[in-house]
Amino acid sequence: MSPKEEALQNLLEALQFSPDNLPLRMHIADSLYGLNRFEEAEEHYRKALEIRPNNKTAKIGLAHVFHKLGKNSAAFVIVEELLNDGTPPAKVFLLHANLLYESGDKTAAREEYEKALVLDKDLKDLHFESKLKSRTTSYGSDEGKVSVDLPDEEEIGEIEKPKITFEDVGGMDKVKEEIEIKIISPLKFPDLYKAYGKKIGGGILMYGPPGCGKTHLARATAGEVKAGFLSVGINDILDMWMGNSEKNLHQIFELARNQAPCVLFFDEVDALGASRTDMKRSGGRSTINQFLSEMDGIDNNNEGVLILGATNTPWNLDVAFRRPGRFDRFIFVAPPDESARKSILDILLKDKPTDGVNTAKIAKKTQDFSGADLKSLIDIAIEGKLRESMRAGKPIPLSQRDLTDALKKLRPSTKEWFQTAKNYAMYANDSGLYDDILKYLKLK
Ligand SMILES: Nc1ncnc2c1ncn2[C@@H]1O[C@H](COP(=O)(O)OP(=O)(O)O)[C@@H](O)[C@H]1O
Ligand SMILES: [Mg+2]
Repeated sequence: MSPKEEALQNLLEALQFSPDNLPLRMHIADSLYGLNRFEEAEEHYRKALEIRPNNKTAKIGLAHVFHKLGKNSAAFVIVEELLNDGTPPAKVFLLHANLLYESGDKTAAREEYEKALVLDKDLKDLHFESKLKSRTTSYGSDEGKVSVDLPDEEEIGEIEKPKITFEDVGGMDKVKEEIEIKIISPLKFPDLYKAYGKKIGGGILMYGPPGCGKTHLARATAGEVKAGFLSVGINDILDMWMGNSEKNLHQIFELARNQAPCVLFFDEVDALGASRTDMKRSGGRSTINQFLSEMDGIDNNNEGVLILGATNTPWNLDVAFRRPGRFDRFIFVAPPDESARKSILDILLKDKPTDGVNTAKIAKKTQDFSGADLKSLIDIAIEGKLRESMRAGKPIPLSQRDLTDALKKLRPSTKEWFQTAKNYAMYANDSGLYDDILKYLKLK
């Protein structure tokens, strides 16, 4: 227990004897807040307000706790009440600014932030300021173009320039080939495609057990064609204010279009395309529709935007995603077979000191291991070696023994996924969608 926590413990014991001691309770609530124990802090601020319903300090504390706990509407209610009730302390303006920012209203957020600074210039927060600075883009149909703020790149993921290429990806030959034909060639030879009237567009969706190289390959695709890489975790979109997620989606596509050629990678697309009912209610449906129309590129030119997606749970995906021109290639990424495992091991060991390592033998012994499992294997072996090397004061190369020892500490991670996948493949295999899973399991 840290000294702070110990002090707090003593105060909590004291509080049991005088539960109505308001200053004590406030002190405890503030300390809990300071220790990031927000739920407990909430409880004490609430108790404080039971004792003294008009205590402003407790209200301010509670509003901050609500914000930390993501209960923004509750925080808003209190902050607005405080603002209506005379001039509150500067930090209430700062909180208000944060809440407004998170609700998507940057302009109002900036005003409130400035008010906070007028009252207390020590509240200056450079990180928040950089978030408030914005670029703009146009959004909407031609007639009704409106200007909206473009979020900072850090918010929706930065465009990176991956250095890895297909060479850094072991196995996955079939997926590489699909990407080559559908994504890379149209980019390299657009005129040829046009000459034959072949439509460019649509994306590839990879699915399969976790750790088998989906994300890795998407990044390598960008490196392969020297394109930018914009990876969007779907949570990035949905976590943002629900009502704004269509706008955010548009901005992400715009960013990719402006930076073309660019691989736009949607990781875990199932969450976005969820056919789960909770998504269909609330804002989910319109987010899906926005995504589909951005992908169709009707109002916008998606030339040079290479769209890839990956998911571990394809059965959650809305069928609309698989129509032509969208994720119309649906590819199973299986765990690496023996020869793929050997190449992955070779790739992972490429720049490492080794002595007499036989990766083919290890590949034989690692049935059902994912690429990520193989990476753990190497990591574990290296960790052991590092300790030895430090003692010796020089790098000691990895031996076969190190790898086989590390192997004893690991189990393959892909089997679990197949237990779930098997059920979908057997009982929800619409038009043979999951035939590849059945083939892999030798059930077909
Ligand atoms: N085919 C592969 N070739 C090389 N490394 C791989 C491969 N598959 C997985 N890895 C390693 O495992 C890590 C996790 O893989 P990842 O691409 O994130 O899996 P997924 O996206 O399918 O869950 C990668 O960063 C990479 O180091
Ligand atoms: Mg991944």
